[in-house]
Parts: sequence; C-alpha cells; structure tokens
Amino acid sequence: MFQKVKRVLKLAYYWKKYHKLGVQWSEGVELGGFSTIFEGYNRLGRNTSFTGSIGRYSYMGADCKINADIGRYCSIASDVCTVNGRHPTTDWVSTSPVFYSNDCQCGMSYVSEKLFDESSPKTIIGNDVWIGARAMILSGVKIGDGAVIAAGAVVTKDVEPYTIVGGVPAKPIRKRFTDEQIDALIKLKWWEKDDKWMREHAAMFSHIDKLIKEERHEGL
Ligand SMILES: CC(C)(COP(=O)(O)OP(=O)(O)OC[C@H]1O[C@@H](n2cnc3c(N)ncnc32)[C@H](O)[C@@H]1OP(=O)(O)O)[C@@H](O)C(=O)NCCC(=O)NCCS
Repeated sequence: MFQKVKRVLKLAYYWKKYHKLGVQWSEGVELGGFSTIFEGYNRLGRNTSFTGSIGRYSYMGADCKINADIGRYCSIASDVCTVNGRHPTTDWVSTSPVFYSNDCQCGMSYVSEKLFDESSPKTIIGNDVWIGARAMILSGVKIGDGAVIAAGAVVTKDVEPYTIVGGVPAKPIRKRFTDEQIDALIKLKWWEKDDKWMREHAAMFSHIDKLIKEERHEGL
C-alpha cells in the first residue's frame, strides 16, 4: 500500500514538473528516484522503467528498463534494457553476494560490511541514436552520436559514432556514412541547434549531402 502511494506521488511530482514541456508516459511507467531529468518532448511507452536523463525529442517504447543518460533525437524501441550491477568473476570463490555484501539480496549475508563494489557506471547514449527492439546494453557502455544498435544486440563495448552494430556480442556491421560525411556531421552537431535553425534546415535532412552542401555554403 505504502509503495503504491509513493509511486503515485512520484508520478504526480514528475507530471507537475514536466507536462508543460510535452513529456508523456503511458500506463505502468516507473521513474527512478526524484532525479530523473526530461529535456522536453519525450515519451515513455507502457510499463517502461527509466532512471537518468533524456534529451529533447528522444523517446522509448514499451517494456524498456533503462538506466542511462540519453542525448537528443534518440529513438529507442520496445523491450530495450540496460544491465546494471556486477558480481566478482575473478579471485572470489563465489559470485554470490552472501560473501561480500551486507545488502542481504536473498535475505541473509555472512558479512556485516561491503567487501566488493557492486555498483556499475552509467550507460551513456549519444544524440540521434536508434536502438532496435530487445537490445541489451551493458552498464558503462558509451554509444556514440548517430549510432544504430540492431534488434536483439547485446552491446558490451563502446560504439563509435555513426556505426551500426549487431549480434551477441555486438560487432560493427557497417558505418552509416563515409568518413568525410561523418566528420562533417560530428563537426556540425546539428542536434545542438535551436528550433529556428532546425525549421530552416529540416527539409535538407532527406539526404546527407544536401545538408553538408548547405552548411558549407552558409560557412562561406
Ligand atoms: C541493423 C538494421 C538497422 C539493418 O541495418 P542494415 O545496414 O540496413 O542491414 P542489412 O539488412 O543490409 O544487413 C547487413 C548485415 O547485418 C546483418 N543484420 C541485420 N540485422 C541484424 C541484427 N538485428 N542482428 C545481427 N545482424 C543483423 C544482416 O544479416 C547482414 O549480414 P551479412 O552482411 O552477413 O549478410 C536492422 O536489421 C535492425 O536491426 N533494425 C531494428 C528494427 C527494430 O528493432 N525496429 C523496431 C523499432 S523502430
């Protein structure tokens, strides 16, 4: 009962703070703590659980479980999760926390203090990243701007900007553009432009060369 009231109060707090910024979520959404940050025009699908920060125009589908800092213009499919927490895999005889944690994960512990750091670094997702359905991203991984994560991928290492990765463990499939085009986009950082710039240039987003050409022209 107490948990239910706490959850309703938390959602009410977030709704009051963010509904004017166009932030929307569906039934069953869980938000971590009171420190999750929405930049605006974000949507969370049904039963999604999210902790972290999320940039303008980024959204995620249903049944995601994500703890990450997410950039702008990201499209995250359903059933995507980040994997947090760790257990020792070398030196320690057992991976069970009953030998190194006083958190009593299973209701008991042989130790009265923490003997192993179970915390894991945050996952960082850049700008304009597309993450396919059922992808799993390990904690501490950094996904570069413009990257694509294929459906079902298990991402264990950092992903370079504008690279498509897939498989288990995820490996590069191909780059989205030529090196020259990628350099131009990274330099441009269009996701940091204001609304006026976006409206003036949105029609050029249908082909990368149109946008690069226009930018070079404007830079003259
Ligand atoms: C990765 C993806 C974007 C396709 O990228 P692409 O570059 O157009 O890929 P292609 O279809 O040309 O395939 C290129 C290679 O990647 C492989 N590949 C494609 N999707 C893959 C996946 N999900 N996992 C692993 N490998 C994959 C292909 O088999 C092919 O391999 P090959 O070169 O050995 O034949 C797409 O397959 C995908 O996963 N999309 C996500 C869809 C989704 O989740 N939608 C819901 C939310 S909108």
